[in-house]
Amino acid sequence: MRELVYYSRTAPTSGNFSIDDLQKAGRIDIAIHVIIATFFLSHKIRPDAKLNLVFAGMPDPTKHIEMSPVLEGETGIDKIYLSKKDVSGILKRILYKYRQGERKEVFPGYWIQKKGFLEVVGDLYKKGRNLYILDPKGEDIRTVDIKKDPVFILGDHKGLPSKELKRLKKICTPVTLGKKVYFASQVVAVVNNEIDRREEKGKL
Ligand SMILES: C[S@@+](CC[C@H](N)C(=O)[O-])C[C@H]1O[C@@H](n2cnc3c(N)ncnc32)[C@H](O)[C@@H]1O
Repeated sequence: MRELVYYSRTAPTSGNFSIDDLQKAGRIDIAIHVIIATFFLSHKIRPDAKLNLVFAGMPDPTKHIEMSPVLEGETGIDKIYLSKKDVSGILKRILYKYRQGERKEVFPGYWIQKKGFLEVVGDLYKKGRNLYILDPKGEDIRTVDIKKDPVFILGDHKGLPSKELKRLKKICTPVTLGKKVYFASQVVAVVNNEIDRREEKGKL
């Protein structure tokens, strides 16, 4: 199981954002592209990925959304239909269903709660997970030692906040995809491909 953490300092923290202009809605369009890059293969949803979205925008930061889509069973009962066309609608419903003081499962495999970025990563660290932070100054993704069930952490259009980045570098291995700065969703596609290739070769 591979896991990702996407941090957005501007993505909205309530469901009343406008789906008519997703760029203006705290750049939630980037989170949507990250979701698509995380889960969608051609004609298939990945069975082996989990995504954590940490939204720190207005009006009620910070929200932690966990996405680990259930793929078996009857649609509408055991699982929801995850469509590329309606990712914004799913995010809207998840954010609307937030309940104070709860880690609420909104749909099978989709949770929301109030939780900060460092706490989300800190809890993964406490669970003994192998953490990698996407950072142009890190080790090359093609040669770095990636351990089982890795977690990859990446930032929004403004990057990861420098204070948090400094703290996370103490518990995460920084990993680079090269000198060019990629969109967050492109980063996810490269990471997924690297993990797929290592798994195909039995190296992970
Ligand atoms: C669009 S980029 C952020 C750009 C922002 N202006 C900055 O300088 O950090 C979004 C995220 O993708 C990751 N990223 C982009 N290019 C990368 C690269 N070449 N190597 C590693 N991570 C990269 C970083 O985690 C970054 O926070």
